[in-house]
Amino acid sequence: MRQDWIPLNCGENGVKNKWKVNCLDRHVQTCPERVALIWERDEPGTEVKITYRQLLELTCRLGNLLKRQGVRRGDCVTIYMPPCPLAVASMLACARIGAAHNVVFAGFSSEALADRIRDAQSSTVITVNQGVRGGKVVDLKRTVDQAVQNCPSVQQVLVAMRTENTVAMTDRDVPLEEEMMKEDVVCEPVAMDSEDVLFLLYTSGSTGKPKGLVHTQAGYLLYTSLTHRYVFNYHDGDVFGCVADIGWITGHSYIVYGPLCNGGTTVLFESTPVYPNPGRYWEMVERLGINQFYGAPTAIRLLLKYGDEWVQNYNRSSLKTLGSVGEPINTEAWEWYHRVVGDGRCPVVDTWWQTETGGICIAPRPSDPEAEIVPGMAMRPFYGIKPALLDTEGEVLSSNDSTGALCISQAWPGMARTIHNHHQRFTETYFHPYPGFFFTGDGAHRSKEGYYQIVGRLDDVINVSGHRLGTAELEDVVNQCPGVAESAAIGYSHDIKGEGVYVFVVLKKAVMVEEDVLAQQLREMVSRSIAKYACPDFIQVVRCLPKTRSGKIMRRVLRKVVERNTDELGDLSTLDDPDSVHEVISGHRRLCGDGKQQ
Ligand code: WTA
Repeated sequence: MRQDWIPLNCGENGVKNKWKVNCLDRHVQTCPERVALIWERDEPGTEVKITYRQLLELTCRLGNLLKRQGVRRGDCVTIYMPPCPLAVASMLACARIGAAHNVVFAGFSSEALADRIRDAQSSTVITVNQGVRGGKVVDLKRTVDQAVQNCPSVQQVLVAMRTENTVAMTDRDVPLEEEMMKEDVVCEPVAMDSEDVLFLLYTSGSTGKPKGLVHTQAGYLLYTSLTHRYVFNYHDGDVFGCVADIGWITGHSYIVYGPLCNGGTTVLFESTPVYPNPGRYWEMVERLGINQFYGAPTAIRLLLKYGDEWVQNYNRSSLKTLGSVGEPINTEAWEWYHRVVGDGRCPVVDTWWQTETGGICIAPRPSDPEAEIVPGMAMRPFYGIKPALLDTEGEVLSSNDSTGALCISQAWPGMARTIHNHHQRFTETYFHPYPGFFFTGDGAHRSKEGYYQIVGRLDDVINVSGHRLGTAELEDVVNQCPGVAESAAIGYSHDIKGEGVYVFVVLKKAVMVEEDVLAQQLREMVSRSIAKYACPDFIQVVRCLPKTRSGKIMRRVLRKVVERNTDELGDLSTLDDPDSVHEVISGHRRLCGDGKQQ
């Protein structure tokens, strides 16, 4: 097995090009009035269309403003914005002047934002005064204000106005629209090497500290544009509706870079699947004439519960392909998506990939148009992707009908090149577990027919509504609570979110607190330190955690308890205190029997 394909801190350079010309300028030359972005704002029916010419203008003005504010090639700008045209223009403006961007999901707390700003060493942050989502106004600028108090690197915050409400501005703050209107509409793109950094994007791993994965110019753009075209069968003139947030890799690859590189029309969805009612997606499909719809299983499972009528009320004849991403899609949700949403006539592509892979790696399409699609399976590797399954001994499983650790055995253009400032962590995480292979962290099954089905994470990462969350990250927060001695966070299956968070807590000696009060306090802490979506559903106080004699928490046992598989606890002979398991089980029954905390 060749080992020399592991990216060595951004690999080999040489090809100079103006990559951003690929997303904007060349389309402006051929079709300036084509709609690039449809900004589907929170209130239905108030969408705003931005043509390629307008997007280029916005991007150039912003690029010039960033330059005027001292942003240089090689800097990293943090963007904390909801999906909106200025967020896309900000990403493209950074790319145009040779700066990297670091988009932070606007649902993250000020502490999580501050961590990411510090790690990226950003001197510039771009945000909006307020966000609007599901009819609610969120004070994003205030979150940035709190974050930058603890970020000495930040010299300026550019503030766009999403609502008309004024917010307190300091000397550090720059009114974005006002200042960009003073700038020229021409901004010459800088020539970048193919292996120069395009962006960082933080994601959770199995340690407490999120990692800033680094994507570079040429390979990433090539890979996202190809997968966008071939997995979704995207054609000129189609309207592509990816309802992810731009703060995640799905938004980067399939709202911004893939579709724009292909000269496509792409939707920026600001709202939620249930605002103002559970028909929102399908009403939008009808109104905007969406041809490819790309969403998450968690939303499909939620909508399925509201019944078919919310779908059937709207005309979905524009739909040609339906996509799913972020977590396994169960058969029931897949069937409903296919039969009800797609009227049984649209291929459903369950796309497997990761922040690390840059773009889709396994999906039912492209393939022969008539080729079968098995519900709930990602199935076929994309061009150039060579998956391998490895057993616990590190041996390649070469036969079909086998299950193992999902690895990729040769480089592909979209792969992340490093972790920002931590190249060693990059090689250790992805290349050391199975030497010669890229390890994805997922397990997979290869069927008799040779199709791949993702089984789930093999590491300590929980997938809540398609968002990754490290158990160590959660435990770090919970352990900061003064009464808590130690904790263990476990993922359990949740019928809407895919996985929910269950935390076991051991209190310090002599600490007396009501479980409900503690639960409330811990949820507030998690929400303040990470984000709302990370909040535990259940918090159980235990006398001690089941541990091996060497002091390692037996997560396997805890997982069985929360999954109610107590008949299959496995070998407990290595446990330090066998009674602890029985106490944990009875505590779990007490807590979940009445479902009190959920
Ligand atoms: C999971 C999102 C099953 C998987 C693009 C992966 C999936 C992690 C699928 C990456 C799928 C993503 N089926 N599981 N179709 N797609 N995953 O980095 O565990 O946010 O490793 O990228 O989500 O999450 P990330």
